[in-house]
Amino acid sequence: MSHQPPTPPDRRVTVTDLGRAMQQDRPITMATAYDWPTARLVDEAGIDCVLVGDSVAMVVAGQDSTIPATLEQMTYHGEIVARACRRSLVVVDLPFPFQHLGILRAIEASANLLKNTGCQAVKLEGTAGQAEVIAGIVAAGIPVMGHVGLRPQAVHQLGGYRMQRDRDQLFRDAEAAAEAGAFAVVLECVPADIAAEITRSLPIPTIGIGAGPSCRGQVLVFHDLVGLSQGRVPRFVRAYASVGTQIAEALTQWRDDVTARRFPGPDETLG
Ligand code: KIV
Repeated sequence: MSHQPPTPPDRRVTVTDLGRAMQQDRPITMATAYDWPTARLVDEAGIDCVLVGDSVAMVVAGQDSTIPATLEQMTYHGEIVARACRRSLVVVDLPFPFQHLGILRAIEASANLLKNTGCQAVKLEGTAGQAEVIAGIVAAGIPVMGHVGLRPQAVHQLGGYRMQRDRDQLFRDAEAAAEAGAFAVVLECVPADIAAEITRSLPIPTIGIGAGPSCRGQVLVFHDLVGLSQGRVPRFVRAYASVGTQIAEALTQWRDDVTARRFPGPDETLG
């Protein structure tokens, strides 16, 4: 059975639609995008949310972590993606360390992201310690998606990209995000049974990545999903295509055709 999007195709998905999808037990879909052509593909595939993730630093810029992503870079990619998307809700990551610089600076950075990109919501990583920051941004009228469990911006503190198993802390962080007014929360690298319990108890949708099948929605990084990532991909990823292999084959074939003088041929030669 194909996915039923939470809205008719003629209007944009809203945060309210995601709440409704949860009430109606319809799974929510979210994939990352960082540029115009991939954002168009994700949007046109009927995926509910497009995330302009700070994973851009790793996936596109080849950095070791998401920490180097800047507000300027998120603004640049956010504006491109928001302009490409007609239907999906576009969520942009608040880059490190704005959620730790106090409520006013977090509101200012989030507001600038929305004003300068056209995205409709921000996502921020945090523990219960960031609840007041979430509440402040929400009070400014900016929809916030929380992100708990493995918080890649805290990778050095967490000791690597590893499963987060502290049930009490996971509950505390997810509940704090919900109580602070987040409209949804990402659960990253959380044991499936704990993610299922949190999902049942939260009044807002959980969006899982490496958190099992019980979350209200799932998110994947675009490059992982289509088989375009370089290097090792996490075990929780399912690649639905081998785009990287196809691109490599195309490039090799073109190089061979040029060196053997088979390209350009008559069809590609202008009068
Ligand atoms: O930046 C990102 O791509 C993310 C997802 C992995 C949820 O935060």
